[in-house]
Amino acid sequence: MAHTLTAEKPEHGPAIEAVLDRAFGPGRFAKTSERVRERGAVLELSLSRVALSATGDVVGVCRIWRVEAGAPVFFLGPLAVDPAAQNAGLGADLVRAAIVACRATGGNGVIAVGTARFFEPLGFSVAPAQRISLPGPVDPARVLWMELRPGGLDAVQGLVRAPAR
Ligand SMILES: CC(C)(COP(=O)(O)OP(=O)(O)OC[C@H]1O[C@@H](n2cnc3c(N)ncnc32)[C@H](O)[C@@H]1OP(=O)(O)O)[C@@H](O)C(=O)NCCC(=O)NCCS
Repeated sequence: MAHTLTAEKPEHGPAIEAVLDRAFGPGRFAKTSERVRERGAVLELSLSRVALSATGDVVGVCRIWRVEAGAPVFFLGPLAVDPAAQNAGLGADLVRAAIVACRATGGNGVIAVGTARFFEPLGFSVAPAQRISLPGPVDPARVLWMELRPGGLDAVQGLVRAPAR
């Protein structure tokens, strides 16, 4: 089925919550990435992407947050596709579209927490050990990043926190 990818709008919020509940289940708020988001990361609706079905229902989301880790950087997530729409390339398409939007801002890079098996083909790599820390436990093999311009990650290090302004 054909899907449309579009920037997130405030009115997508309740449908996004429903997709996140269906995709992640009850553990979704226990993730360390949630600690980043609740500590003042700034949600960038214009860079986040939702996937709409032919009937206009939200079936996937890739959110982008503005954070700081030694330098301004974007934080990707949650990424989720409704279980009924998974394995059709939508998750990868959502990430690619969000990255294109982030790159167009002239930003430094994007950090994501997830499996390298999914994110590496999209241009992410595992961040060097000890370079980035998160406000909670995380498997270092799941701390991924991607530069948006040459050298964009050179100054990115330390705790992922709320942007200075
Ligand atoms: C992870 C998720 C977003 C992937 O969405 P999707 O639309 O099913 O993924 P795609 O069809 O775009 O898959 C792209 C590729 O990644 C692979 N892939 C998909 N899910 C994967 C996973 N959990 N782990 C490893 N690889 C995965 C696919 O096999 C595919 O590989 P291929 O191109 O070689 O066939 C979706 O499964 C989901 O919502 N899962 C529950 C929530 C979650 O775990 N989010 C990710 C947090 S990091």
